[in-house]
Amino acid sequence: MHHSIIIRWVLGMPNKHSILEVPSSKKPAPIGLSGACVWVTGATSGIGGALVAQLVAAGNFVIASGRNQEALGKLATELGCRVKILPFDVTEPNLEIARDALNNITDYVDCVIACAGVCEYEDTLDFDPAMYQRVFETNFLGVIRTLNVAKPLLLNSQVRGQFVAVGSLSSVLPFPRAEAYGAAKAALEYFVKSARIDLSAHSLDVALVRPGFVSTPLVAANDFAMPFMLTPEQAAKRIIAGVNRRKSLIDFPRRLSWPLRFLSMFDGLWVRFVGPRITRV
Ligand SMILES: NC(=O)c1ccc[n+]([C@@H]2O[C@H](COP(=O)([O-])OP(=O)(O)OC[C@H]3O[C@@H](n4cnc5c(N)ncnc54)[C@H](OP(=O)(O)O)[C@@H]3O)[C@@H](O)[C@H]2O)c1
Repeated sequence: MHHSIIIRWVLGMPNKHSILEVPSSKKPAPIGLSGACVWVTGATSGIGGALVAQLVAAGNFVIASGRNQEALGKLATELGCRVKILPFDVTEPNLEIARDALNNITDYVDCVIACAGVCEYEDTLDFDPAMYQRVFETNFLGVIRTLNVAKPLLLNSQVRGQFVAVGSLSSVLPFPRAEAYGAAKAALEYFVKSARIDLSAHSLDVALVRPGFVSTPLVAANDFAMPFMLTPEQAAKRIIAGVNRRKSLIDFPRRLSWPLRFLSMFDGLWVRFVGPRITRV
């Protein structure tokens, strides 16, 4: 390859022979969510529920999604007219129902927080593909379905839109029995980084949240030590602070994320010596 082509490629300069038109991004990127229209999936419980309450308290209009109709109804009753509920199963392949329902509520969305998730462990070492499929359907494809439904409305936003996917610190290093959960979150992390490059030119920021342990129904049955556990309210506060600062990676708590990030530089040692010690209590 000719040197000037390599330099143009590294610097992101358009190749004079390129047929790709890169749209310019001129929308303002306000710092801080207030008076915004935010769609939260996984809003019926845990971190998503706390996010909805705090976003409403900060003066935003929130569209809350999940499958549990009773919990959705409760959210609407408790939080009033600033919350609209949108029943949405993220594993549903037909997205037209959700698309129509969202379009009936609003014609733009400023921010989406894709929080819906499930957790299943590789307890039997049977490597049952059905279990992997269930976890990937929700934790990976579910986020992509959410982006697919939301993208046209995010692009309608007057400001630079934000799509925020909730991953996990488990994608930093391999944890025992987390083959399905961790792999789906690692796939999500790659997807987010890749989509960030592609959507940046379309005035859309894509961010990843990597929480540590949070005391929600998702981890209630965990039978191993969960250090530095946060409440859903503490987690939601950190997520909103990161979204407000338009951070592309929001991971917390730092006392867990920083050591894990450091140890990830020695993943061979982790797999041989540390991983096997993370046992059930
Ligand atoms: N808790 C932790 O320690 C922790 C750590 C790292 C990452 N996370 C991530 O944080 C996110 C929220 O988890 P959480 O701890 O708050 O768990 P949670 O309390 O169990 O909430 C999970 C939410 O996901 C929704 N959901 C599950 N399957 C769905 C589906 N097919 N379609 C639509 N919604 C679905 C549930 O709503 P319905 O049942 O009403 O559908 C619920 O609102 C997840 O992505 C999880 O992986 C959690």
